[in-house]
Amino acid sequence: MNLRYMLSRITRGQFMARGIIKLGGGLITDKTRYKEVFRERIDAVSVVISKIVDLGYSVIVIHGAGSFGHLEAKKWDISGGYNPAISEDQYSAIETIRTDMDELNSIVLDSLVRAGVSCDSLPPRDWVNGVGTSFSGDVFAFERSPDLAVPVSFGDVVKINDESRFGILSGDHLMVRIATELPDVLLCAFLLGDTAGLMSGPPGIDESKLIEEWSESQGFIGEQDNRIDVTGGIHLKARCASLISRSAKQVWFIDGREPSRLLDIISGDSVIGTRIVPG
Ligand code: IPE
Repeated sequence: MNLRYMLSRITRGQFMARGIIKLGGGLITDKTRYKEVFRERIDAVSVVISKIVDLGYSVIVIHGAGSFGHLEAKKWDISGGYNPAISEDQYSAIETIRTDMDELNSIVLDSLVRAGVSCDSLPPRDWVNGVGTSFSGDVFAFERSPDLAVPVSFGDVVKINDESRFGILSGDHLMVRIATELPDVLLCAFLLGDTAGLMSGPPGIDESKLIEEWSESQGFIGEQDNRIDVTGGIHLKARCASLISRSAKQVWFIDGREPSRLLDIISGDSVIGTRIVPG
């Protein structure tokens, strides 16, 4: 089925299509400055999400943490789990991170609502145990028909039922579980904050070119800043997108500062971004 034909059937309610959109922490916050949020970028994405809902898609929104999570998590090694030598500081950092994530989540929800999208927040701390793609938790809570509220979730500090006691669940791992377990997932997009997609070299360098199509067999590329990121940066995203590409047709990395590119994907126009394919 080609995309235009599919789109006409989606808008007429004859074909179910699910779209999962991740607003990366680097898109919605300044990753280097504690709790510095880019509201205009969030608002621009919300307007496009509202259009996708109007097209008849069943949308799921996941967002990252950026500077609302990584800085404090790094400082107290929250992703390394319980450490008796600093446990008091770790528990107080967990409180802070969760409060900060709630604040970021409210900003995203508020923006979506202002764009006309009714939504429903599902914070992982309330329903997830464990980290990585094998966490336990019912992802079917995200399965909604297009006329219901859009479920929204995010990377969070979650419980773990072993000696590590707690850890960080990345929004990218949430994406994998939701995209590979729910039916009808057609579109899965990772919105980046500083590049047009996967690049052949570090962002901002002239020789770095956009990779238009990528499969895992091509190997990992690019650089990431481990001084800030506790969950794995672009390499984790690429690995997660590759897993998703085995079950969803349209898996993309695009520049979240140009959110209308999401509509280009949907309408089958040419897209500036990286399409992730299985392999
Ligand atoms: C990280 O989530 C969650 C915390 C650090 C609390 P993500 O891995 O989804 O966040 P980004 O997109 O890299 O910021």
